[in-house]
Amino acid sequence: DCPVIAIDGPTASGKGTVAALVAANLGYQYLDSGAIYRVLAVAVAKLGLNPEIPANLLQIIAMAANLPVQFQADQVLLGGEDVSDAIRTEVAGVMASRLAVVPEVRNGLLQRQRDFRQMPGLVADGRDMGSVVFPDSVLKVFLTASAQVRAERRVKQIEARGQKADFQIIYNDLVARDKRDSERAVAPLKPCDDALVLDCSNMPIDQVVATIQNWARE
Ligand code: CDP
Repeated sequence: DCPVIAIDGPTASGKGTVAALVAANLGYQYLDSGAIYRVLAVAVAKLGLNPEIPANLLQIIAMAANLPVQFQADQVLLGGEDVSDAIRTEVAGVMASRLAVVPEVRNGLLQRQRDFRQMPGLVADGRDMGSVVFPDSVLKVFLTASAQVRAERRVKQIEARGQKADFQIIYNDLVARDKRDSERAVAPLKPCDDALVLDCSNMPIDQVVATIQNWARE
């Protein structure tokens, strides 16, 4: 099997940007696993399903195993429809994190994530890349930053899309998401034993990328 570099960490730690750059520099494939959870969230919202209702949950679990998601250049498609913008809303993020606590949902999405492992290699970004999806990764990085810095970055990201963002709301949402992600019974967010922890609170992106590529060469 070809090499995998796993980059896990909390919301808005910069994983996505860093993982995409490392993949581009190495000529590797790139997996944004959060996007897959978000696509499922959009599909669930479209049908008006509520994961708290048992019959709906069964339907959601069946959807997870057969989710018609495609990644094409910069576009994310759900059943051929461009959902690239729809998956990036806060609402989709919150629904994604609610679905992510269901073990059967996580299992249903497992193979789809592993299919990204193709020559010459893969950089995978998520919460459980090193622990569950690709436990044989050649390098496992846990990328983190303070809640303050991550909330500031998220605000900038939202404003760059021309939308308004309230720092305090974003900060509170981020802390709540961290709590839910780290306290859940399945695949809780924490560095795995063989992960290298990188706190990038005070590091520019290119320095984070260089650090990870140096580790990958070792
Ligand atoms: O960075 P942010 O948390 O906003 O979003 P994301 O990485 O796109 O992931 C959305 C949600 O999916 C997260 O809150 C996690 O609960 C969940 N997720 C997961 O459980 N496992 C993954 N490998 C990726 C995402």
